[in-house]
Amino acid sequence: MREVCHREQTDAGFPNVRLRRLRRSATMRRMLRETSLSPSDFIYPLFVTHGRDVRMPIAPMPGQFQLSLDHLLKEVAEAENLGIPAVLLFGIPAQKDAAGSEAYDPQGVVQEAVSAIKQATPDMIVITDVCLCEYTDHGHCGVLTDDGVVRNDETLELLAKTAVSHANAGADIVAPSAMMDGQVSAIRRALDAAGHEDVSVLAYASKFASAFYGPFRIAAESAPRSGDRRAYQMDAGNAREAMREIDLDVAEGADLLMVKPALPYLDIVAKARERHDLPLAAYNVSGEYAMLKAAAQNGWLDERSAMLEMLTGIKRAGADLILTYFAKDAAKALRQER
Ligand code: PBG
Repeated sequence: MREVCHREQTDAGFPNVRLRRLRRSATMRRMLRETSLSPSDFIYPLFVTHGRDVRMPIAPMPGQFQLSLDHLLKEVAEAENLGIPAVLLFGIPAQKDAAGSEAYDPQGVVQEAVSAIKQATPDMIVITDVCLCEYTDHGHCGVLTDDGVVRNDETLELLAKTAVSHANAGADIVAPSAMMDGQVSAIRRALDAAGHEDVSVLAYASKFASAFYGPFRIAAESAPRSGDRRAYQMDAGNAREAMREIDLDVAEGADLLMVKPALPYLDIVAKARERHDLPLAAYNVSGEYAMLKAAAQNGWLDERSAMLEMLTGIKRAGADLILTYFAKDAAKALRQER
């Protein structure tokens, strides 16, 4: 009934209204596009490993590599030339132990990479993942009790130490991803105490326990030896809890927020966008990348257009920034579109 009145009052229906009028030409469509991608939306994740002249392909992530410093610097320079403003670093340590000690070693693989990148390409924004899972022999994101439970408060100290060591090396932004309670405030306090009040915190504010991290765990050699991460990462069904995680990280002093993974959680991205005014990032994770790459290699999907559609959808949902292994490919594709 209400709809009928509305139509009579405004003459708003077909045939007066024809939405196809605005879709008639490519120029018209380009002019009227509500969401467009730019290379400055992308953050490019990279895996750094010890040694020289290492460029080890990551099988489930075609086009991605474990890189030694020499190759890493080339990759970063290439990203910079494509207009990508930031990289996110993950490290593969020489040795793993129970306390993940290379994570906070001043001569650790990430610390060395950060200072080399800031020296070679000072304008590139360097973000570091702050977590212990790549560095612990058990593969969990913190230190364990005898029963294999991750100890929250002891882990906070190590995460804070890790973040400070990254900042000492020159990191612009640290991104805690361990999903320990209080990690943002612990890191903020430690950074300030060390004189790094200008280093920002990108909070992996709502990070779900996801099967889509599978390829990453092969890439970073970080799969838990036993058990899983469900006692610290979030349950896939929980949107209200995701808002509590996000609110808490804002209260603890996060400068930027992240939702992870992206595609199965676009409702969380949209809700976070409505709720807070901080810059919001979404992580288009390894499994999302692998899925499209595999389908494309089989000739089942057109990689370029599926990639751009995927990234546009993430931005349309409300993300200002997208962490994606497609960063270089997408920047190239956008360049060709012009
Ligand atoms: C570290 C971390 C993970 C990812 C980013 N940081 C793995 C995990 O939580 O198991 C996953 C990124 C990706 O899948 O691309 N905790």
